[in-house]
Amino acid sequence: MKTPGLPYRPLQRGLKYPLGLAALVLALTARLPGTETRVDALDLREIMQSDWSVSKAGQAGGRIGGPLRVGGKTFAAGFGTVGGSRLELALDGRAEQFRALTGADETSGWLTTVRFLLVGDGRVIYRGPWQQRGGPAVTVVVPLTGIRRLVLVADVRGEAHARADWLEPVIIHAGDAPVAVAPRPEPDALPPVAPSPSPRINTPARVGVRPGHPFLQRVNVSGARPLRITVEALPAGFTYDPEHQVIRGTAPAAKGELIVKLRAENAHGRVAGELAIVVGDTLALTPPMGWSSWYCMSGKVSDVWVREAAAALLRTGLADHGWTYVNLDDFWMTRPLADSAILQRLREREATGRVAGYYKVPDHDPALRGEARDAQGRIRPNARFPDMPALTAWLHEQGFRAGLYSSPGVLTCGGCTGSFGHETEDAAQFAGWGFDLLKYDWCSYYLEAPGLERAECMRPYERMGAALRAQPRDIVFSLCQYGLGAVETWGAAVGGQLWRTGADLNDTWGAISAAGFFGEERDPATGPGSWNDLDMLMIGQIGMNRKLHEVRLTPDERRTHFALWCLRGSPLLLAGDAASLDAAAIAFLSNDEAIAVNQDPLARPARRVVLSETTEAWVRPLAGGAVAVGLFNRDEEAAEVHVAWSQLMSESGAWRAHDLWRGGPAGGATATGWSGTVPRHGVVFLRLERNVPP
Ligand code: GLA
Repeated sequence: MKTPGLPYRPLQRGLKYPLGLAALVLALTARLPGTETRVDALDLREIMQSDWSVSKAGQAGGRIGGPLRVGGKTFAAGFGTVGGSRLELALDGRAEQFRALTGADETSGWLTTVRFLLVGDGRVIYRGPWQQRGGPAVTVVVPLTGIRRLVLVADVRGEAHARADWLEPVIIHAGDAPVAVAPRPEPDALPPVAPSPSPRINTPARVGVRPGHPFLQRVNVSGARPLRITVEALPAGFTYDPEHQVIRGTAPAAKGELIVKLRAENAHGRVAGELAIVVGDTLALTPPMGWSSWYCMSGKVSDVWVREAAAALLRTGLADHGWTYVNLDDFWMTRPLADSAILQRLREREATGRVAGYYKVPDHDPALRGEARDAQGRIRPNARFPDMPALTAWLHEQGFRAGLYSSPGVLTCGGCTGSFGHETEDAAQFAGWGFDLLKYDWCSYYLEAPGLERAECMRPYERMGAALRAQPRDIVFSLCQYGLGAVETWGAAVGGQLWRTGADLNDTWGAISAAGFFGEERDPATGPGSWNDLDMLMIGQIGMNRKLHEVRLTPDERRTHFALWCLRGSPLLLAGDAASLDAAAIAFLSNDEAIAVNQDPLARPARRVVLSETTEAWVRPLAGGAVAVGLFNRDEEAAEVHVAWSQLMSESGAWRAHDLWRGGPAGGATATGWSGTVPRHGVVFLRLERNVPP
């Protein structure tokens, strides 16, 4: 994939001379006298990479693995990684030299482009050329004198699946052998802005509902409690529940806009706003915001845990900042591994050589056992969900919208019951249970669509889209097929409001930077009811089956992740376990001004402006003439950035820059631009307002 604005550098052969003559002299020294330690003999579990696989010595990266192959040659020694990756090594300052060959692996069929860097004590000490699959290996010889932390970095251009190989990597050292380590947690130099005690209305300005359908919207107001909310001009058929802060009702049969007046008051001030109930065909006028069970509960999600998560969104105040979808992902249904009809279809399909994208894990979990469907063909929840209507009723009472998950294939990604052949019944069942969103995940549908032609990609979503549209309630349709067949060009036409644009994320820089900085060619599709879903927000603690760990992103990487998702209008679905968010994560997720960029009612896409090979700006016009700007540094070390607003916008004139992380005037900004240092993997996130002279 070519990235506009970033020139390809030609492949270079032979030795690199990153540090000039000194490196050349060392490189020409045939063999240093120290001990040689093979890097592929170290603990490769410490590698952070774009998927959940663990690298193995002598193998290409990823679950597929295979031999290490670069430039038509197979290498016995070394290791492969997937997407952007990093391996950190602790040295004792007496290491002398790093030697390796690098290359884009050829075992997988993808054309990938990768670049290798070495970071020594926070400085880039080697920056290799971009290397393409098929090209020869590049020799790297770099002195390490005095260095105590060495990071081996593979960088990719948006290809989360790119395979990068470190071949025959060795460190020659006089002292102790290198040790692979987890990166040290970085203290946050910029603590989250303290939420303002003044009342602020965070309910989306415009909420869509279809004519005659039930309506529910929580009035989300942040600010110190006690806080009094009043709702005025409620149209006929609507009521306000002050205990739970929820407007409920049934939309009229006629299309049009109903304006509800909102007011909030506390000891620190008062505020007024409006909610437009937009009766029409478009749902999700702003990106859905909330929480999903996948990255924290996965295979063990349960009614009890979901209620716990929702209660945490209330307790932490996050619901008041807009986090109000509560989405059950995979594993709410049974795992019918012995179901004869499903198995038969899988075997038939697999016999034709097709591969399904579901996890073939053995079924150890008795709670998931059971028939896929009842005698009437209705899909059955597993034992952890004793009463779906009771669960959605409880969520609705608290003001949440409830989401759930299925697959167009016979099995979901987790090997649970899918909707194949039962689309109409399932849509009716999901509506009958009271759900408000369906994520529909391709997975085993790979078996049904061998060519991945556009029409094949659309077919299962057309079918389910029509079935959902026929229900007497609104169900937001979230397509999950990783961007196949240019989904953004037809997702809305099949009834979708959001669609994933790439592979699953994880909590690494490689994954979030590949999803966040690339794929801008899909962004013109962004608009009300039409959202590119960059996957969930990696904040808080994640881990399969609630075996949690703090996300491994640095504070700056978290800000970059959040700013990109806000600027690009991605749905904001929290991946972290809601019940175990710490104060810093809660404050981070309570940044109303950053969230307002995501929820801006103008719903315009952001535009990417390349500033240099490793710095870029994303610029998003906001309602009322303001502009959101992110100045990003993708490099491994801090960067000096100087930008004139005229580089980012056609409108001329003077601007006032507000810092969305600090909640005040932006340091480094003038009326005409911004100058300063952007930390490694960091972002300066600004809202520009026209500077009207007093
Ligand atoms: C796929 C999706 C994930 C999640 C899992 C569930 O991997 O991309 O978001 O829904 O399936 O099995």
